[in-house]
Amino acid sequence: MLPRRTALLQEIRSNLPEALWKLEEWDSERSLDDFEPLLADDVAAHPRQSDVEPRPEAKRVFIKTFGCQMNVYDSERMSEALAVEGYVETADVAEADLAILNTCHIREKAAEKVYSDLGRLRDLKSLRAKSGKETFITVAGCVAQAEGDEIVRRAPVVDLVLGPQNYHRLPEFLSRLRGGEAALVETAFPDEDKFKALPARSPAKSASAFLTVQEGCDKFCTFCVVPYTRGMEFSRPVAALVEEARALVARGVRELTLLGQNVNGYHGEGADGHATTLAGLIRHLASVDGLQRIRYTTSHPRDMTDDLVAAHAEEEKLMPYLHLPFQSGSDRVLAAMNRKHTADDYLRLIERVRAVRPDIAMSTDIIVGFPGETDADFQATVDLVKTVGFAYAYCFKYSARPGTPASSMDGQVSEAVKRERLERLQAVLEDGHRQFNAASVGKTMPVLFEKAGRQTGQLVGRSPYLQLVQVDGGPEFIGEIVDVEIRAAGANSLSGVIRGSM
Ligand code: 5AD
Ligand code: SF4
Repeated sequence: MLPRRTALLQEIRSNLPEALWKLEEWDSERSLDDFEPLLADDVAAHPRQSDVEPRPEAKRVFIKTFGCQMNVYDSERMSEALAVEGYVETADVAEADLAILNTCHIREKAAEKVYSDLGRLRDLKSLRAKSGKETFITVAGCVAQAEGDEIVRRAPVVDLVLGPQNYHRLPEFLSRLRGGEAALVETAFPDEDKFKALPARSPAKSASAFLTVQEGCDKFCTFCVVPYTRGMEFSRPVAALVEEARALVARGVRELTLLGQNVNGYHGEGADGHATTLAGLIRHLASVDGLQRIRYTTSHPRDMTDDLVAAHAEEEKLMPYLHLPFQSGSDRVLAAMNRKHTADDYLRLIERVRAVRPDIAMSTDIIVGFPGETDADFQATVDLVKTVGFAYAYCFKYSARPGTPASSMDGQVSEAVKRERLERLQAVLEDGHRQFNAASVGKTMPVLFEKAGRQTGQLVGRSPYLQLVQVDGGPEFIGEIVDVEIRAAGANSLSGVIRGSM
């Protein structure tokens, strides 16, 4: 039985390009592609359960995650919901009884990749069918939400299209599929709370975990699909978040990154029944014993309230790192983007943050080639980058998204101009990134070790500023915060020596 299974898997694998089961990077336009502090490593940590040798009869689920950290969190929660049903996660798509593409709709390229993967999954499904194996194919995430039925029309191989608010119903839909129902599409925004319906968290793979605290966005930047795919802002109540944080800490987590499309717009219900700000939530979470570090992403400049700025000075567990997208340095473009802030507002805000936390590392998102962007507008973006001095930044070519106001604006910028501006901006940003890392050499920093490195005897952790730090050290340091003297800075990481072992 087993040799036949192995032969079948080999046949399937040889018919599928390796790319399909490789993890999807956010986007090749990311300026510091290889160094994706919150994304690449954590995505690579998936699948969580494959460390456990699955029983031969267990059902396998393969999950490919596209896009942002919120999708990474959602993939983990889907995996946990499926574990209750007896599914074990696999990194090998060829043996998957269920393949889930957790998709991103933010730029055209990310959305289109889903369809090329679905073409490959179609071949996989028919190969498996030849040996009597059923394969259910699910499209989840923002493409599912935005395109719904259209996905099944374009790719009839898809069995289930599931919007982000319906993950808790995954087991129910699978049982309906097994019962013979054809292509199911669910993109409603249900009344029930998916977070309440999802099972408890499973053991942590890393000392650092994500915690979604807020979803959706009401800002309606004219380029962005998020308000349409993820809906209006919704914040989870403080008590539920503190409970989830405690559960994660009990499972070995030491650092939490609070996630939300507009996380600093957080306004979840507190114990007194009133809305709590993000700063208030951070204070509650900081009181969880054993939790040592808190981060949050991603923020909007307009929601950077005084109490949140103050929290950076007062809350020891809040790390000195702030991801604050500014999108463009031109006021004219910012107005057309409906950002409701100017370049000067942004600079003043950073002054306020740096006044209370001078060492804070800043990162940002920038779009080049927004409709109507002139050379002078672009130059204003470059100037702002130089003025602020970002530790990291992600820049993107503007991508027209159907249904968003900017997609029908006059003055769409040519691909060639966008590419040229992106390259110029990336050169400036990479310079800043190198300088930021080089300035760490000779300093001693507390590093949270998250896991073993690629080479034996090597450990990988993060500095307070989210820099990747590699040292030689044993597994006893995993989950610990240890002082490290930084000896060298590479393009994407630092290396150093554990204090006391020098
Ligand atoms: N085109 C290019 N970049 C976009 N982003 C959002 N929508 C678009 C778009 N249509 C970028 C913004 C945002 C980040 C998550 O993605 O910079 O902050
Ligand atoms: Fe999109 Fe962020 Fe603007 Fe909301 S604030 S519309 S998520 S870019």
